[in-house]
Amino acid sequence: MQTLMIDGTSKNMLAAHILQAGGLVAAPTETVYGLCANAFSKQAVANIFVAKGRPNDNPLIIHIADLAMLKRLVRKIPPIADTLISHFWPGPLTLIFEASDIVPSAVRAGLPTVAIRYPSNPIMQQLIIDSGLPLAAPSANTSGKPSPTNANRVFEDLNGKIDAIIDGGNCDIGIESTVLDITTTPPTILRPGGITVEMIESVIGPISIDAALLSQDSTATPKAPGMKYTHYSPNAKVCIFEGPLDLVIDAINTRIKQDAIDGKISGVLCTDETVSSFCTSNVKSLGRASHLDEIAMHLFEALRSFDDDGIDFVYSLSFSKSGIGQAIMNRLDKSAGFNIITITNKK
Ligand code: TXA
Ligand code: MG
Repeated sequence: MQTLMIDGTSKNMLAAHILQAGGLVAAPTETVYGLCANAFSKQAVANIFVAKGRPNDNPLIIHIADLAMLKRLVRKIPPIADTLISHFWPGPLTLIFEASDIVPSAVRAGLPTVAIRYPSNPIMQQLIIDSGLPLAAPSANTSGKPSPTNANRVFEDLNGKIDAIIDGGNCDIGIESTVLDITTTPPTILRPGGITVEMIESVIGPISIDAALLSQDSTATPKAPGMKYTHYSPNAKVCIFEGPLDLVIDAINTRIKQDAIDGKISGVLCTDETVSSFCTSNVKSLGRASHLDEIAMHLFEALRSFDDDGIDFVYSLSFSKSGIGQAIMNRLDKSAGFNIITITNKK
């Protein structure tokens, strides 16, 4: 199959027609690129799983562009959903509802619930409107790899496996949406993301966080099936260093020197403030340490670009867990397989 690259900056009905005909189109959202299909077409939805190599027990998010679509897809809209929707939609918040009977089982991976998101990216909104369809869309990467934040990364993973890619430039947020289950009382965060716990609690009061997200304990099963898989991993082995910054920099430089002796190439993920502190040229700054939105925006692209350079080991600083930092560290911890080294002052 020839994968078409469509320019997202000019109006074009081609992608909408491909979706109406049961095809697969990758499109930008404000978080990451999504791989879209008609949510009502069992075959198109099945094709998403094949193209990504995605396990069948991992349900998809349905993307909508108006609340009339939401009403058809869910059994009821509880008052708490109205409050969340009025504050955060359109935007990077996915809500889990009880599914109505018209949602195909394949989209929900057999669960009684369905994940719904109203994205704010205008290209994605227009695609939903032009096709007249709710669109099932996971991140547009090969399963297990970091999500794509530009069209070239989608092409790298899915060229020849999908019908088209709409090029809408770089994604603004860079990390996937927050997944909030509103079928529980209080609601439960199943995946941290662009809308932070603090932002949600400021409008609906205390919420809980899926216990499996807070521990490295592999016996705890996450409630979002997708969170149990190894994820966000480049080919390079990732290791996170935490502790006093000067000691962390020393420890990383010691590793880099040892890797060079062993004939291995190492790279570093760091901040603007530390970018000139390392004894390798394979250093990528994600942005200013105190601007977590910059760190989030650049994280996945940096992880993927280490693979372009054939890096064996990636050493990363750790980042603040406040605000969107919780989502950043969740993705980074998973990309490292929880390979975290804590440096202390004590010898
Ligand atoms: O920002 C995003 O959410 C991006 C863009 C494309 O919208 N999409 C995305 O989709 O990240 P995906 O499929 O890569 O991740 C969806 C997550 C998975 O962890 C999945 O298990 C969870 O949402 N999920 C979907 N439906 C669910 C349900 N009914 N119950 C619990 N978790 C669900
Ligand atoms: Mg994904």
